[in-house]
Amino acid sequence: MAADALRLDGVHAYYGDSHVLHGVGLVCGEGRLLGLLGRNGAGKSTCMSTVVGLLQPKRGAVTLFGKTIGGLAPERISAHGVALVPQGRRIFRSLTVRENLVVAAQKVRAGSLRPWTMARVFETFPRLGERRAQYAGSLSGGEQQMLAIGRALMGNPRLLLMDEPSEGLAPQIVAEVGRTIVNLKNEGLSIVLVEQNIKLALEIADDIAILNSGSVAYQGAAATLTMDHPAITQNLGVH
Ligand SMILES: Nc1ncnc2c1ncn2[C@@H]1O[C@H](COP(=O)(O)OP(=O)(O)O)[C@@H](O)[C@H]1O
Ligand SMILES: [Mg+2]
Repeated sequence: MAADALRLDGVHAYYGDSHVLHGVGLVCGEGRLLGLLGRNGAGKSTCMSTVVGLLQPKRGAVTLFGKTIGGLAPERISAHGVALVPQGRRIFRSLTVRENLVVAAQKVRAGSLRPWTMARVFETFPRLGERRAQYAGSLSGGEQQMLAIGRALMGNPRLLLMDEPSEGLAPQIVAEVGRTIVNLKNEGLSIVLVEQNIKLALEIADDIAILNSGSVAYQGAAATLTMDHPAITQNLGVH
C-alpha cells in the first residue's frame, strides 16, 4: 500500500507562549485531496507552517511520504517534495509573471511526477502565458492566484498545500480554481486544500478534516458530509 503523503500525529505548536495547536492528528493519503476546514483562527495556517518547517512543532510528528521530518529546516523539507501556496498569495508584485516562475524553479528530484516547466505552467494556465511579460501586481486576483499555484508547481512537489486559494475571488473564478485543483489531483498530486469556502471543499475533496481551536474535531470522507451535518454546523458555525 502507498505511504500516506502527509501525516500529523499529536502535533503541538506555539507562537512564543501561546499554545495554538493542541495535538493535531490528520492524514492526507497519496494521490488524495484533503480539505482542511475550520473557523478563522482555528489553526489551519499554523498547521501548514509546521508542515513546511516555518514553525517547529514542540511535540508530535510530521511525516511526509513515510519520512518523519520533525526539526528539519524549510529548505530541507521542501526537498522532500512539498510546496505551499501561501494564504494571501505572496507573489512578487514587482516582478513579471515569467520572473516569478523563474525564481521558483527547482531541480527535479527522483520519484517526482512529470516535471513542471514554464511551458507546462502556461499550458495549464493559458492566461498567465498571455501575460508573461506583465508585472504580477497588475494581474487580477484570479490570475495572481493562478501564478501563486504556478510558482509552487515549479518546485515539482508531490504534495501541494494550498492555503485558502479561493479567498477574495468572484464565484466564477472560484469555480475555475476548483477545476484546476481537481486537474492537478488527477495528474497524481496529493493535495491539502485549506478552505473557508466549505461548499467548494465538500465538492472537490476526497476527505475532510475539521480543525476547532487547534485540534481536529472531525476527519472522514467528504461524500458523507453535507452542509447540515453536525460536524459542519457545530465546528464551523454555519446555520
Ligand atoms: N505569527 C503569529 N504570532 C502569534 N499568534 C499567531 C500568529 N499567527 C497566528 N497566530 C494565532 O494562532 C491562532 C491560529 O491562527 P491561524 O493558524 O492563522 O488560523 P487560521 O489559519 O485557521 O485562520 C490564532 O489565534 C492566531 O491569532
Ligand atoms: Mg489561515
